[in-house]
Amino acid sequence: MRNPLVCWGRIAALLGLALAGAMLTHAQGGPPATEGKTAEQVYKNIQVLKGAPADQLIQSMHLLRGALGVDCEFCHDERDRAADTKDAKATARKMMQMMIDLNKSSFNGRQVVTCYTCHQGRPQPRGVLALPVAESEEAPKVTLPSVDQILAKYVEALGGEQAIRKVTSRVITGTQYIPTGPGGVVPVPATIEVDQKTPNLMVNIYHTPTYTISNGFDGAKAWSQDMRGRVTEPPSVDQDRVKRDADFYLPLNLKQQYTRTVVRGVERVNDRDAYVVIATPQGDLPERLYFDTQTGLLVRKETALPTPLGNNPMQVNYEDYRDTGSGVKFPYLITMYPANEDSVPATNATIHVTKVQDNAPLDNTKFAKPEAKPVTAQ
Ligand code: HEC
Ligand code: HEC
Repeated sequence: MRNPLVCWGRIAALLGLALAGAMLTHAQGGPPATEGKTAEQVYKNIQVLKGAPADQLIQSMHLLRGALGVDCEFCHDERDRAADTKDAKATARKMMQMMIDLNKSSFNGRQVVTCYTCHQGRPQPRGVLALPVAESEEAPKVTLPSVDQILAKYVEALGGEQAIRKVTSRVITGTQYIPTGPGGVVPVPATIEVDQKTPNLMVNIYHTPTYTISNGFDGAKAWSQDMRGRVTEPPSVDQDRVKRDADFYLPLNLKQQYTRTVVRGVERVNDRDAYVVIATPQGDLPERLYFDTQTGLLVRKETALPTPLGNNPMQVNYEDYRDTGSGVKFPYLITMYPANEDSVPATNATIHVTKVQDNAPLDNTKFAKPEAKPVTAQ
């Protein structure tokens, strides 16, 4: 972890639409203790990837996830990645071994055959060996709706503009395991409170049994307070992202917040079809927004964190939309990959929303950047 601040702003920005900044990790900062170690030295149950650099393991996992178009939980227990409880994990080990052998015996050890070669984003390959198929032969062309139609359907699905505008503040409570400890590898249970108010006030508070951290947007500036009480502001690019995502009526303002939007096609998200909209904010990387073709709801958002080694993709899934009681829908299950910039083992963060109170009275002082607590030497 280079800078916990950068991390915060970026993560916060990613969440957007539902819970801007509801993920804050690296309360303690510090790089994961993986440098120079092999996978089996750092992780508990490595059988195939012995000898591989430990700090590449999680990136490889993201690769698997993308190649098969599944969640980490397709192969893993959410709470214990080392456990061998799912058949898919056993199959994946066999597949990894097959792939390594194939590349060694037939391609001089070059990484030619990958999971994607056969799987192409599906858990079950289409043919046994998928050959490149011209788009036109594959599926009848679907006529895609326009961006405006997709966004209008989304607003309708959430309850309609009128109902949305009747809500002017919101308190969301939920639970989440947040990575903590040295290297951020130990998930600890936390309760989250997210307060939001028009036009763009926001604060996220995380309580764990031993500490509290928070971050927010006061209408002008993003801030964050760590477990030692230090208060900091993320850098400007991240400020822009946080500001965008703090917009209380973001679902109504998508066209204003994203200066370029285009419908890319239809893709599968968790076994359902979704329209993919590529949305580019002014001066930032494009994001991919996935809207369920049936329900119209936003089910996934993908963005990227610029890093020195290239752009690191990140994803947020929104599921279990329910009426909050005011005729407006809100996702009660939110999952993020990776959970933080370093993709450490506790890399998937799942927020279980337990309560949403619309139009809860919230004083503006709640959102103000807090005073730093004096640092006490220990
Ligand atoms: C297609 C199945 C599959 C998916 C999807 C997958 N993994 Fe894995 N994962 C494995 C297998 C298999 C191993 C064991 C590798 C070995 O034995 O060398 C593993 C090992 C791990 C380990 C090491 C655990 C330990 O202590 O031994 C972690 C951490 C991990 N995965 C995290 C993730 C994360 C995070 C995701 C989602 C981004 C993910 N995995 C997605 C199959 C998968
Ligand atoms: C040469 C083609 C090929 C490659 C390469 C390949 N797979 Fe597979 N995989 C298959 C086929 C075919 C099946 C379906 C097998 C069956 O139905 O019994 C499958 C099935 C699976 C399944 C079980 C899916 C389910 O629905 O339970 C997992 C998990 C899996 N593969 C993981 C991987 C991973 C991880 C990689 C890369 C390390 C990989 N595969 C590389 C061909 C491949």
